[in-house]
Amino acid sequence: MIQTFPTDKFRTIDTPFYYYDCDLLRETLHVIEEEASKHKGYIVHYAVKANANKKVLNLISQTGMGADCVSGGEIQRCLECGFPSEKIVYAGVGKADWEINLGLDNDIFCFNVESEEELEIINKLAQKRGKIASVCLRINPEVGAHTHANITTGLAENKFGIALRYVPSIISAALEITHINLIGLHFHIGSQIMEMQDFQALCARINDIQDDLEKRGVKVENINVGGGLGIDYNDPEGHPIPDFQSYFNTFAKHLKLRKEQKVHFELGRSVVGQMGSLITRTLYVKQGKSRQFAIVDAGMSDLLRPALYQAHHRIVNLSNTDDLQSYDVVGPICESSDVFAKEVSLPTVHRGDLLAIRSAGAYGESMASQYNCRKLPTGYMSDEL
Ligand code: LLP
Repeated sequence: MIQTFPTDKFRTIDTPFYYYDCDLLRETLHVIEEEASKHKGYIVHYAVKANANKKVLNLISQTGMGADCVSGGEIQRCLECGFPSEKIVYAGVGKADWEINLGLDNDIFCFNVESEEELEIINKLAQKRGKIASVCLRINPEVGAHTHANITTGLAENKFGIALRYVPSIISAALEITHINLIGLHFHIGSQIMEMQDFQALCARINDIQDDLEKRGVKVENINVGGGLGIDYNDPEGHPIPDFQSYFNTFAKHLKLRKEQKVHFELGRSVVGQMGSLITRTLYVKQGKSRQFAIVDAGMSDLLRPALYQAHHRIVNLSNTDDLQSYDVVGPICESSDVFAKEVSLPTVHRGDLLAIRSAGAYGESMASQYNCRKLPTGYMSDEL
């Protein structure tokens, strides 16, 4: 599926803005549903943090997928956008009391709990409301992932999850307290993971933990393996849809399930990453001492990933096909790191040319800020243009 852009329509819209290809999103959701349904008990939640645009959420909720939230704000928005509360899972290393209460009041599917203290607080708040909170314990599996250091989460020194050595004692605590129902275990090793061996290593660790728990007579109904499947930032045209088949097969092959156990996935980037592009207009082309700069009207406030993680996003000139020249594509913000790409070859860029910064559907609009008193970028769905 090659993405085409309605460039004529783009000319009439204020830049910068996000453009979301609904056909690609629908096709991606269809593939996920098809591949997951080949395996008994596989349940997919969309990780809302990747893109919380209401129109995107409305489209995803229609497929019946659940939602993975990390804040009260995300829970509220998911409820507004058609996700049923019983399909919402709520993770986060620092849940405030009002956020826990919101989850309790709406009877969400479960809280992914990250410490013993949090477990006690949820128990207390649930008791006050006369409710029983369903809980998965988030375990830090101490499994590394081959990805950027800022987006690994499963290493011993990361702040996420319960350290392996404390798992038995917290499980005993969870089984004893009155207003908690321990329904499962939760894991997440990181994001933008391209190597299936990393997920295989996670499966091996989960198998060991389950064996150990079984010896202690503990059995849980749900295993949540988190998210993390990456996308091809270098070649979004060649790989518009991630390889969900290999992804789910890796778990089918390596994760040992107990009878009737369900496996939950929390996929973000792989669902929405490739369907989005940041569309920006060229303001100036400037010759530096040795480099040429294409200065565009989008900046790191609109798409933070290149500045924060040195992330690579492919850039396409939508306005012309002239001879190639080398450019540093930079934004207008007063920071040296406000650079989208260095020394990229683009058809000769002129003032007014529209550029598409590709693979920006995940962690683009959702991480935008108003730094420099800029406007937040609008997201447009292809269906509405
Ligand atoms: N579940 C948990 C517990 C998570 O922490 C995350 C992402 C996900 C699921 C979804 O992961 P995904 O399938 O999208 O890889 N802003 C960074 C990515 C941060 C990911 C945070 N956690 C970026 O732009 O690369």
